[in-house]
Amino acid sequence: MINNNIKTFRLRNRKLTKQQLNFINLYWPIFGLNCNKKNNLNYYFYNNPIILDIGFGFGDSIIYLSKKYSYVNFVGIEVYIPGISFCLKNIHFYNLKNVKIFYGNAINYLNYYIKNTMLYRVNIFFPDPWPKRRHYKRRIIQKNIIKKISKNLILNGFFHILTDSYSYFKHIKIVFNQFIEFKKISKKNIINFLKTEKIYTRFLNKAKFKKNKIYTMIYKKIF
Ligand SMILES: C[S@@+](CC[C@H](N)C(=O)[O-])C[C@H]1O[C@@H](n2cnc3c(N)ncnc32)[C@H](O)[C@@H]1O
Repeated sequence: MINNNIKTFRLRNRKLTKQQLNFINLYWPIFGLNCNKKNNLNYYFYNNPIILDIGFGFGDSIIYLSKKYSYVNFVGIEVYIPGISFCLKNIHFYNLKNVKIFYGNAINYLNYYIKNTMLYRVNIFFPDPWPKRRHYKRRIIQKNIIKKISKNLILNGFFHILTDSYSYFKHIKIVFNQFIEFKKISKKNIINFLKTEKIYTRFLNKAKFKKNKIYTMIYKKIF
């Protein structure tokens, strides 16, 4: 069991606007996941492969991809309520039937709801960098967390990680080098429909605006 007291995020939830609250009230009951321990994602997706986006922010990449690939299932996990509200609004607006959202600490969901599922791909785009050494333990990419997720990743499934923090990039390499079942591949070696996909996220835009170097890491599960 992963220690879910680790806070990999800093809660920045301010008071929600009336509109944000309205979107939550209207659309959470439809697209939000209130799992109980008896069921998990298979209950909603009938054993079909899922793309998981951990810390989706405002959900830009989920919305973009799920609109394009209506036959693929997308699950997002986020603790930032304004981001969830925005994403729910868009799921409704685009009438997307293939997206579900979890609210809360992703680590809790790994212990129960993602167990025994078939993850096709796991996106972690711009995880909070926690740049101070004493905070490294709060980084979401940790050996035990990756181990837990990888049990549910299908063969040839992969992690797709983006960061603009050099220190986090090095940390990610160290973590993944501990797994013989993962092979780092370049984007052109992805043999599936997402090969040529562009990624859209707010933090990617911010990083580009600041002209930061962006590190792309794709780790494929080879056995
Ligand atoms: C730097 S932001 C990146 C957001 C988005 N992926 C993007 O690229 O624009 C990191 C996000 O991860 C979320 N996050 C961090 N740890 C989390 C956790 N344990 N469970 C769920 N969300 C988490 C934060 O709330 C935040 O919105």
